[in-house]
Amino acid sequence: METDPSRFSLLFVDDDPQVLSLLEDVFAKKDYHIRTAQDGQDALTILAETRIDAALVDLRMPGMDGLTLLKEIRTRYPGIMVSILTGYGNVEDAVKAIKSGAVDFLEKPFSPVRLCAFMANLCRIWELNEENKTLRANVESRFGFDPLVGKSTIMLELKEMIAQVGPSRSTILIQGETGTGKELVARAIHAHSPRARNSFVPVDCAAISETVMESELFGHTKGAFTGAHISTLGLIRSAEKGTLFLDEVGELSSSTQAKLLRTIQEKEVRPVGSSQNHPVDIRVLAATNRDLGTEVVRGFFREDLYYRLNVLTIHVPPLRDIKEDISSLATHFLKRFSTSRSPVKEISEESLLCLERYDWPGNIRELENVIRRAIALGKGNRILPEDLPENIYTPPFLKPPESIGLSLESSLASYEIAAIKNALAQSGSNRKKAARILKIGEATLYRKIRKYGIKNYELRVKN
Ligand SMILES: Nc1ncnc2c1ncn2[C@@H]1O[C@H](COP(=O)(O)OP(=O)(O)OP(=O)(O)O)[C@@H](O)[C@H]1O
Ligand SMILES: [Mg+2]
Repeated sequence: METDPSRFSLLFVDDDPQVLSLLEDVFAKKDYHIRTAQDGQDALTILAETRIDAALVDLRMPGMDGLTLLKEIRTRYPGIMVSILTGYGNVEDAVKAIKSGAVDFLEKPFSPVRLCAFMANLCRIWELNEENKTLRANVESRFGFDPLVGKSTIMLELKEMIAQVGPSRSTILIQGETGTGKELVARAIHAHSPRARNSFVPVDCAAISETVMESELFGHTKGAFTGAHISTLGLIRSAEKGTLFLDEVGELSSSTQAKLLRTIQEKEVRPVGSSQNHPVDIRVLAATNRDLGTEVVRGFFREDLYYRLNVLTIHVPPLRDIKEDISSLATHFLKRFSTSRSPVKEISEESLLCLERYDWPGNIRELENVIRRAIALGKGNRILPEDLPENIYTPPFLKPPESIGLSLESSLASYEIAAIKNALAQSGSNRKKAARILKIGEATLYRKIRKYGIKNYELRVKN
């Protein structure tokens, strides 16, 4: 695959202005973004202000020499590919440079053609590195088991529970709001079971339409219905000796529920269009964000299936109940999503406070998305409050003002204003919630906001 030069910013560092101007001439007609520096200090200043992907550094320079600069770059900006320019035949220096982390070296003198090929190669290595990183992250999150992050008491109890119930054959119902990590918990249970080496087969019951659900789950015979040109095994049998994870199990139609119940009870599967049963050895885990017990009472979910699935229930907590884990979760996502192009390393204290104040209706998945977005939008290597979405970046809490020398009426008013602003901040500017925090009616809160002229920007009203 050809690399696209316009994607890359290159930095050349050489104390010899003739070499620099030669380099500039060679690249004048290419699309790379080019920066040049005459010494190490100059180079570091450029690196602090500009995004650079690859650098070519002369080894012999007065002041900071090439090797020192190379080491500096490796520590401060590990994503940058650095190569070294050496004098002809100076193999010893080249070896030293490679040992200190240089990707390659180019001997002087060089022809323009050689230089271009060399730099293109450097960019290609950079790209491969980046691809590798993304691939690894994808593979880990999709196929591997990414351990649950969190050290709060609730999380530790959850992990303990997983370790305890994992090895059994028992069917488990995983209950939790959207985005709390139900699938991750299911994968963790599978990983703790003797079935860990066999497949974990997730089935998204909400995403598969009712008409194809049965043949997807139980398989079908050739000719079972129009379009059934070949027979299929079905998801249940493909989980043989492994774990079948029924996500959003509450969405199953009543006829699929009946068939599933039979499979769990009899440990056999009858494909659509077949009169034959096939034995299966699977463990079933199911997840739901609804209260299945209530669904049973309302007549939407079969009671007998509910009891079969609900041999054991694991509750995955909403993020608002494990706020002390926000910091380690945020750091975990930072590591996962930060790339050498957006090398975000930390979260400012103020941003963390904002994250901890927020209510997280979308739970850990919402936090994951907020961090991903902040990395993409942010300019520096720290996440600042302004990189966070508007509803999360709330102004800092106000302390009630000093009341010395004020009339009783004005000092009460200033207390009221501080309390209202704080409640709005705490509720993510949701007036209904803010009114609840203050234990007053919404209309009263509205009147006070008007009376004290609390501005719209201070409210950050959510629609
Ligand atoms: N404790 C945790 N540690 C690290 N990452 C987590 C944790 N819990 C959830 N996640 C991550 O949050 C995201 C959402 O998790 P998951 O898909 O398991 O949630 P879910 O409850 O199944 O969500 P939904 O209800 O939307 O299907 C995933 O990317 C997952 O890796
Ligand atoms: Mg899920």
